[in-house]
Amino acid sequence: MKILVVGGGGREHAIITKIKQNKNVEKIFALPGNGGIARDAECVNIGAKDIDAIVSFAVENAIDYCIVAPDDPLVLGCVDALEEKGIPCFGPKANAAIIEGSKVFAKNLMKKYGIPTAEYETFDDMDAALKYLETAPIPTVIKADGLALGKGVIIAFTREEAIDAVKSMMCDKAFGKSGERIVVEEFLEGPEVSVLSFTDGKTVVPMISSMDHKRIGDNDTGLNTGGMGTVAPNPYYTPAVAKECMEKIFLPTVNAMNAEGRKFKGCLYFGLMITKDGPKVIEYNCRFGDPETQVVLPLLETDLLTVMQAVTEERLGDIEVKFSDKHACCVIMASKGYPESYEKGFEITIPESIANNVFVAGGAIKEGKLVTSGGRVLGATAIAETLNDAIKASYAMVESINFENSYYRRDIGARALKAPEVK
Ligand code: AMP
Ligand code: GLY
Repeated sequence: MKILVVGGGGREHAIITKIKQNKNVEKIFALPGNGGIARDAECVNIGAKDIDAIVSFAVENAIDYCIVAPDDPLVLGCVDALEEKGIPCFGPKANAAIIEGSKVFAKNLMKKYGIPTAEYETFDDMDAALKYLETAPIPTVIKADGLALGKGVIIAFTREEAIDAVKSMMCDKAFGKSGERIVVEEFLEGPEVSVLSFTDGKTVVPMISSMDHKRIGDNDTGLNTGGMGTVAPNPYYTPAVAKECMEKIFLPTVNAMNAEGRKFKGCLYFGLMITKDGPKVIEYNCRFGDPETQVVLPLLETDLLTVMQAVTEERLGDIEVKFSDKHACCVIMASKGYPESYEKGFEITIPESIANNVFVAGGAIKEGKLVTSGGRVLGATAIAETLNDAIKASYAMVESINFENSYYRRDIGARALKAPEVK
């Protein structure tokens, strides 16, 4: 089979690493891929948002199966366009990807179907939003409606910060059109859990749970990033919480999408907060999370392509999806300065013995060498019998990888180790 993967980050590298293990796969193309992915797939310089070029490439190269990984092409209808040409895909159509593409849509869906989430109001008029903020409970959370590279969420701890956030989104257009409508929502507290799930619109199969570390600094300080590391499973996601999530969140969401005529097929990501009143949805994503995927997929024991094809063909209920009962930790190595400005172009050296467990996000090939080309450069994933051993092993990997001006958090997994559930 010839497989095409749309996207070019650490998540896509983790997906490709798994897909390669299927014996029927002869060739994998990554659009656009990156310098690290080039080790495992043929990278073609077509951007993930260039739907027309992706479709033409897929047709010309007789692609048998396409995996659309990032949010943008999914929201833009990449799967719809490929399927029109008869190419089977993994990923939701645009009318279902809206669950991530519009936060207002997602919030209204949850309200309509009684799915637990933070209380909220939506606004498309700035004056109305500012008026509401005069009396809204503080802290409060301001969210741009549309996609904003994971940056469209501002937690305001004072009324002034809340007002500034609304003005920056609705007046200064900090997130462009994405901020023309906003959600103002209740501030929730509790441990956060990411649960990625496979769903074919009939069955929902949660993958192993995980925990992201979004802030740049140790002890969860500093600016928000695309994610600085992950562990799986997440110890706060106990069997009792999992049961409640399945009954009150996962199945109701899939059923709600069906009832709206927006059948969701692909990976549906639940960003959850385990509050004292039970689990609540913080966000939905219409795709695999990054860097959650870099710990979740290495623990998947069932062949990934087989699961994906079962999703496409709506027979997920007929197969068994198995995860290892081990633990995984992924530490992200970034360019010093990220998420603000940073230098690029430094040579990256990765020992061959660990290369299959290193997922490259920001790497390019220059004069035959792998060099840094982005803020988040790579993720080093280790698997072990215990969380503690997985953390130690991934830091040992990081110590053996070199590039100038590298930066990484020293405390990935520390929050998980403190969970009361960790023995
Ligand atoms: P996102 O960019 O959508 O992944 O959201 C960024 C982060 O903001 C989430 O991971 C949460 O930590 C935080 N967040 C979002 N909504 C809320 C909320 N209602 N209460 C508290 N924290 C939130
Ligand atoms: N790690 C969070 C996300 O992928 O949105």
